[in-house]
Amino acid sequence: MPKTKDLQAIIGHCKEYGFIFPSSEIYDGLSAVYDYGQYGAQLKKNIRDYWWLSMTQLHENIVGIDAAIFMHPTTWKASGHVDNFSDPMIDNRDSKKRYRVDHLIENHVATLPEDEGNALLTRMDALLAEDDFVGLKNLIDEYHIKCSVSGTANWTDVRQFNLMFRTEFGAVAAEDGADNGVFLRPETAQGIFVNFLNVQKTGRMKIPFGIAQTGKAFRNEIVARQFIFRMREFEQMEMQFFLRPGTQKEWYEKWKAARLAWHLSLGIPAAQYRYHDHAKLAHYADAACDIEYNFPIGFKEVEGIHSRTDFDLRQHQEYSGKKMQYFDNDIDPQTGKPYGNYIPYVVETSIGLDRAFLMVISEAYEEEDLSTEEKKDERVVLKLPAFLAPLKLGIMPLTKKDGLPELARELMHDCMKQFMCFYEEKDSIGKRYRRMDAIGTPFCVTIDHQTKEDQTVTIRYRDSMTQERVPLAAVKDLVAKACAMPFS
Ligand code: GAP
Repeated sequence: MPKTKDLQAIIGHCKEYGFIFPSSEIYDGLSAVYDYGQYGAQLKKNIRDYWWLSMTQLHENIVGIDAAIFMHPTTWKASGHVDNFSDPMIDNRDSKKRYRVDHLIENHVATLPEDEGNALLTRMDALLAEDDFVGLKNLIDEYHIKCSVSGTANWTDVRQFNLMFRTEFGAVAAEDGADNGVFLRPETAQGIFVNFLNVQKTGRMKIPFGIAQTGKAFRNEIVARQFIFRMREFEQMEMQFFLRPGTQKEWYEKWKAARLAWHLSLGIPAAQYRYHDHAKLAHYADAACDIEYNFPIGFKEVEGIHSRTDFDLRQHQEYSGKKMQYFDNDIDPQTGKPYGNYIPYVVETSIGLDRAFLMVISEAYEEEDLSTEEKKDERVVLKLPAFLAPLKLGIMPLTKKDGLPELARELMHDCMKQFMCFYEEKDSIGKRYRRMDAIGTPFCVTIDHQTKEDQTVTIRYRDSMTQERVPLAAVKDLVAKACAMPFS
């Protein structure tokens, strides 16, 4: 079993090396909102690009779109988010802190012996599935669950709390009293559903086909204190796969397997993942599961695969009055006639980009003891897959003179057209290597006096820390090849 990593150490590393900063930090930050720094933004982009290429370029029948964050408010009525996108909450009267009921109970489970904890979870799941708020309150009382801040069990009743952010559209509130309220989208999926006909018609898409998109989503999360695991502003990478009714089970299983295979292609061992089937299905689903990754905070959802039936398209058809149908002229072997008109069913795959980032960086983060009998030594290294690393190559002249910087810059200008390079001439070579290790740069080359004589350089490998001499002219191709995406 891989050893557990320390989330606080990873958070500190992300800040120190320019991956992630608290949002508007000079004003003491904004809870559950984060900014990506110079290396974080690049790593995040590389994960997004890999997802995008895997989902669109590698599938003849999946195309990508980029829908707006603001959508007509009726969208959220139709999708069920106005009425149903809420969590049962409970407030502690003494601390005034609000908790999501399932999180409060789950935290208590962690303090119980395994058998007792599992029994409590089973009871909680059954009550959640029934929306039995009185039963949930009774369960909290029965287990004497206390607020971690006040230490008391002085709870209010359990209530629903909508997670969507609302804002005004236009300059001021409408004079005629009309409601100008719009929501920041809580999922990207609806931008795909409302464009189903546009894409199907203009792309002449034949079922089964998919529409993919990446973009920001917003949720007013109540318990939001797990770094980028649960944020109020985050990014999703979603794909809605439109299919013939009756085939959803088959496609659900296919996409479950395909998405896990994508995770494994990141070089993360299978033992770090597990599936979790949902006991309580969302209002739109007939089957749903999570792919869970073993985060430093334990196994948690990184991606969801949901069989959403025809719920969304049917709802949009009803609320918009526009037909959301597809004419399938394939022959149904049962009747010998075309399948004809129907509202397609949908299987979606939905992964949080920030959670994928936390997964990738948690997996890569290593504290290594390099001590020998002579001296103590250690390093922090990010063993990122080369194709995801924000920088691919560190280029270092051994000294700042004798024409070495010029040679190094020449190499840099040649390579930077193909991949991200970093030039550095300050400090000892050892220190420079360690900085590149901490950022996860898979290759460094040092240009020294021998380079001038025989046109070779020392290349140093991040993970093994071994070094070898290679021709200067071979560096670009060597690095480009090693950093290619795994499917190429
Ligand atoms: N369209 C379906 C949907 O949105 P979801 O399970 O609510 O499903 C999908 O969200 C994914 O989005 C999750 O698996 C998670 O990775 C990510 N996600 C959800 N809420 C998040 C939050 N508050 N912060 C970061 N990521 C979040």
